[in-house]
Amino acid sequence: MKKVSIYILLIISALWVFSCGSDPVNPPPPADEKPSLLLYSPASLELAFGKAGASASPTIKGKLPMSYALSASPDGKGQLTINSSTGVISATDKLEVGTYQLSVTASNSAGSATFDKIFTITVTKGTEAPSALSYSPNSLETTVGTAISSVAPKLSGTSPFTFSMTSTPDAKGKISINTSTGVVSVATDAAEGTYKVSVTAANSASSKTFADALRVVVKPGTSTKTTTFEADIRPLLVGKCASCHTTGTQGSRGQDWRKYADTKTWVEDIIRTTANKTMPPGTNDLTTAEVDLIRKWKTDGLKEK
Ligand code: HEC
Repeated sequence: MKKVSIYILLIISALWVFSCGSDPVNPPPPADEKPSLLLYSPASLELAFGKAGASASPTIKGKLPMSYALSASPDGKGQLTINSSTGVISATDKLEVGTYQLSVTASNSAGSATFDKIFTITVTKGTEAPSALSYSPNSLETTVGTAISSVAPKLSGTSPFTFSMTSTPDAKGKISINTSTGVVSVATDAAEGTYKVSVTAANSASSKTFADALRVVVKPGTSTKTTTFEADIRPLLVGKCASCHTTGTQGSRGQDWRKYADTKTWVEDIIRTTANKTMPPGTNDLTTAEVDLIRKWKTDGLKEK
């Protein structure tokens, strides 16, 4: 009875040892033969659209030489390739935005193995170049002496943008652009004229010039015209002063305000007496604008015509 038990124990032990060992009929190939354990580190790559990129070289177990292949054209356009001898996966700069899960087949003389979704490439929308710049309205009208600013332009692309004008539209820098908003400003002393403003918008991707993006029209203002005696001063003084100030009739020194020479010589007194309303006597005072016109005539150089 004791012997039987020992035999049974021996058989059980033998069976146990046997079952734990490898299949003696079909032993698996040694680990260093068939391709196994393909590994990319890192296992993914993120690219901005327009940029090419590549994976690192993978590690793998198995008999060398090893050759690698991707499933045929994973993106449908041939922009993803694998180096058949190193296993490095490359994406061209044309690879479209999207996520690509790549399966790699590794082969050697002992066989081949496919590693499903072993590497992921994600292409994100990168920086978009500036495009379609427009000002609405696309013209800016003012008169000399009045400053004005445009609206900010609308445009497509990835901000931030930097704006500049291609050239100085008025050649004097009186028309300028805000480099961060694209708002075009016209200074009070911009000269009369029509200006075509070409704007260049730039971002980290590229820059683009939009010819004639904005038209600036500066119309003549009253302040641009040079005040002259004949055109401006004589008519005013004849109307308000000539009833008395004609040669020899009035004034301590017989000033004749119809004459250029007299008026020019006495301009300081004319300004003083009209500004403090001593002249003309009575209530027919000159308006502030009229006094200012005489002052401007002086500033403009006391021109006769
Ligand atoms: C109603 C007549 C009358 C009118 C109109 C008149 N003046 Fe006179 N003005 C006089 C008389 C009179 C004097 C001389 C006063 C004096 O000698 O003190 C004089 C003197 C002056 C003087 C010299 C003052 C000085 O300090 O030496 C000036 C300058 C003058 N007038 C400017 C004007 C101007 C400019 C007008 C028109 C906007 C005007 N006058 C209109 C009568 C007039």
